[in-house]
Amino acid sequence: MAGDKTFTMVKPDAVLNQHTGAIIDLILQEGFKIKALKMTQLSVEQAKEFYAVHNDKPFFDSLISYMSSGPIFSIILEKENCVETFRDFIGATNPADAAEGTIRSLYGTSIEHNAVHGSDSDENATIESDFHFSAEERY
Ligand code: CMP
Repeated sequence: MAGDKTFTMVKPDAVLNQHTGAIIDLILQEGFKIKALKMTQLSVEQAKEFYAVHNDKPFFDSLISYMSSGPIFSIILEKENCVETFRDFIGATNPADAAEGTIRSLYGTSIEHNAVHGSDSDENATIESDFHFSAEERY
C-alpha cells in the first residue's frame, strides 16, 4: 500500500524569488497537510549527503553548489498516496516538460532551478524526512 507522507523542499531559486508563499498555498489548496516545516540552509556537506545518489552525474557539482547557495524550506507533507500524488502535482523534473499548472511549470526556470524537490519513493520520503527533521519537529 502506498504511504501517506512525502518530503519536499522549496529550493533556493524559488525562495530567493519570493515564491515560497504561493507554492505553499498551492500545496495546501491541493489537500496536502503540513506535518513539519522549517527554513534552513544546507551546507555543502549536507547537500552532498542528501543528493549522494547523484554523485556520479555530470550535474552533481553544480547541483551541490546551487542547493547550498541559499535558504530553502524543508517540508513533510501528508496525503493519501502522497509520493505519487505530489510528483504529479509538481510536474516533470525539467520545467520545460512539466504539465501546465504544475509547480515546476509555474515557478521553475531550468532543469536544475526547478523550484521544488519531491521524494521519488516511500522509502526515500522516510530517509529524506529523517535527514531534515527529528521526531520532536513533526506533528
Ligand atoms: P530533484 O527532484 O531535487 O532531484 C535531483 C535534482 O538534480 C533535480 O531535482 C534537479 O534540480 C537536478 N537535475 C536533475 N537532472 C539534471 C540535469 N540534467 N542537469 C542539471 N540538474 C539536474
